[in-house]
Amino acid sequence: MSSKKDSELAKPAKSRFSRRGFLGGMGVGTGALGTGLLEREAVAAPPANVSGPAAVPITLNINGKPTKLTVEPRVTLLDALRNHLDMTGAKRVCDRGTCGACTVILSGKTVYSCSVLAIDAQGKDIQTIEGLGANNPVSTAFVNNDAQQCGYCTPGFVMAAKGFLDHHPNPTMDDVKNGLGGNLCRCGTYMGVRKAVLEAAKGMKGVKNG
Ligand code: FES
Ligand code: FES
Repeated sequence: MSSKKDSELAKPAKSRFSRRGFLGGMGVGTGALGTGLLEREAVAAPPANVSGPAAVPITLNINGKPTKLTVEPRVTLLDALRNHLDMTGAKRVCDRGTCGACTVILSGKTVYSCSVLAIDAQGKDIQTIEGLGANNPVSTAFVNNDAQQCGYCTPGFVMAAKGFLDHHPNPTMDDVKNGLGGNLCRCGTYMGVRKAVLEAAKGMKGVKNG
């Protein structure tokens, strides 16, 4: 016959660290919702006005025309133009802000459209190669100076040249070389491109955003 003292001794020692207490401290378990880890995650949750991940309606001002489309917030301006609006002038080559094939003009500045989110381009003036028209002085100068071979980089170069000339109407050859340094041509048509930009500079005198 065991004494009371013996039965108490037989029970496992009661830990100060119970499972319930442990889970509670970790923010896990029904009794712990709203505390611990879950509470911290709730505090860190994004505010309700954050868009996505589902597609959202946006409006882009492209070549002077408000254009409505629905895209996921992760979609780049380049993909919005090419895949959602069938505007395939800007080319996707590196897709990481290196080659310039995707160049467009955003509120007066040349940008790599592969590195701008479409949703962030709202409220800005977007100029693409499609908006320049066939007989604009820059494209004409490219043709006159044989400034393309495969032509894949050419729309990006034309937009880079347009953006450059809008701010530097009287460039030297060195200015052009530096100003278009963000665009690459795998066919090596750089000399033709530079001569074309110098010729376009003459043709663009007095032409603003044309
Ligand atoms: S595709 Fe955008 S920089 Fe190359
Ligand atoms: S003309 Fe071919 S990549 Fe430039």
